[in-house]
Amino acid sequence: MKPSYQHQILIVDDEANIANALKRVFRNKGYQIHTALNGADGLVCLESNKESISLIISDQRMPGMSGSEFLEQAKRIRPEIIRILLTGYSDVSAIVDAVNKGEIHRYFTKPWNDEQLLVQVEQALEQYELVLENRRLNALVQNQNKQLYELGMKQKSIIEAKTLELEKKNKALNKSFISTINLLITFVDAINPSLGSYAKQTASLAKRVAKDYNVQDEALEHIEIAGLLHDIGLLGLPAELMIKDESEMTQGEAKFFREHVTISLFLIQNVEKLKPVTEIVLHHHEHFDGSGTPNSLKAEAIPLGSRIIAAAGEYAKIVNLWPEDKNKMIKKAKIAFGSEIIKNLEDLTSAAMLHEIGERSLMLGENNKYDPEVIMKLIKYTGEDRRQRENRSTQQVRVRYLEGGMKLAKDLRTMDGKLLLSKDIVLDTYLIGTIRRLFRAELIEENLEIVVSKSKE
Ligand SMILES: [Fe+2]
Repeated sequence: MKPSYQHQILIVDDEANIANALKRVFRNKGYQIHTALNGADGLVCLESNKESISLIISDQRMPGMSGSEFLEQAKRIRPEIIRILLTGYSDVSAIVDAVNKGEIHRYFTKPWNDEQLLVQVEQALEQYELVLENRRLNALVQNQNKQLYELGMKQKSIIEAKTLELEKKNKALNKSFISTINLLITFVDAINPSLGSYAKQTASLAKRVAKDYNVQDEALEHIEIAGLLHDIGLLGLPAELMIKDESEMTQGEAKFFREHVTISLFLIQNVEKLKPVTEIVLHHHEHFDGSGTPNSLKAEAIPLGSRIIAAAGEYAKIVNLWPEDKNKMIKKAKIAFGSEIIKNLEDLTSAAMLHEIGERSLMLGENNKYDPEVIMKLIKYTGEDRRQRENRSTQQVRVRYLEGGMKLAKDLRTMDGKLLLSKDIVLDTYLIGTIRRLFRAELIEENLEIVVSKSKE
C-alpha cells in the first residue's frame, strides 16, 4: 500500500555500517532517513523534527544511553511515534524493559531479515497513518464544532440584540401610549378636576393591587389604563346626574347613569390597542354579591381588573370628594364613623379624615359590593400612602429656585384652576423651564409647594 504521507524514519545506531545497512533496506521506498550515532543525538534530531518523524529504529546496545532508555525518552517527546528496537538474542531483559517503559511497537533481533523488517515497518506506518488521519479528523470536527459554536453564539447575540432593541421600542411605544392617555386625563381634569384626580388615583391604586395579585406586563398595563378610562363616559352625562348617588336615582336616572359605561366602551373600542381593556371597563359596576350591572356577575366570575377598579374607585371617589355632593359625603362619613362627627363638607377637607372615611366605607359598609380580598390588599396600599404623607412635610419654593429632582407636593394649576402638573411629579430641567415660562407669562403663582422628606430634615 502506497503511504499517504511523506514519512521520515530515524535510525539510531553507534555502528555506522549497521545504520547504513538499515538505510539500504528503505532505499527507493520514498522515506526520508535521519541517522544518529547515539541516544543523545537521536533525541536532538527528534526534537528538531518532532512533527515529521513517523518511526524510529534504535539499536539497544549503545554507549551512554541504551536503546530502551532512548525510546522511553522519545515516547515522552512524541507518544504516537512508532518505536522499533533492534537487539541481540540475549537481550531479553532489554526487550522487556523497552516494551514496558518505551512501549515499543516491535523488536527485531540481529541479524534481521530485510524483507520482514520492510513489511513490518510498512504495516506500522499504515497504522501510524490511521492515527494521524484520526487526529486530523478530530481536529477538523473540533474546529467545525468551534465554528458552529461561534456562529451559534454570533446568531444568538444578534437575536438577543434585536430582541432587546424590539423590547426597547415596545417599551418606548407603550410609554408614549400611556403618556397619551395621561394627557387625555389632563384634559378631563381641566373639565372636571375631581374626576381627573379620581381617575388617576384609581389607576395608580389599581395597578399596585394588581401587582399584588402578580399581574404583570401587558395585563397590568390594561388594568392601569382601565383605571384611567373606565369612567370617561361620565363626561357625556348631564351635570346633575354626576353628583347623585346611585341609590338616590330614579329608575330612569339610574338607567341613564349606567349609560356612562356604554359611552366609555364606545370611546375605548375605537382604539385597537385598547380592545383588551374593554372587558375590564364593561364590568366595573358588577357587585361581588351579584347585584351589579350589566350581567349580575358574582364573585370571581367578575374579571379581576373590574373588581380591583370598583374597590379602588370607591376609595378614590371619597378622598377626591367626587362627586362633590355634600349630603352624599356626609352620609358616607356618618356610616364610616357611626356618629354625626362630620356635619359640614368643610370638615372633610383633611386628607387623613378622607382617607379614614374611604377605608371604613370599604370595610364596614360595602363588603357586599366589593371583593373582600381586594379590599384588604387595597387598604395595605392606602395605609402606606397615608404613612408616607404623614412622614413628609412641604415647603414653598419660588420658581427661580426650583431644582431638578424636586417633587411637587400639590397639583400645579393655572391661576384660574386648570391643572398643569399632577402632585408627586418629579421635576426635571425641561419641566422647570416650562414652569418658568408660565410664571413669566403670569399664568401661575410664584411659589410652588415642594415635598420635603422629614427623615432628611
Ligand atoms: Fe363607573
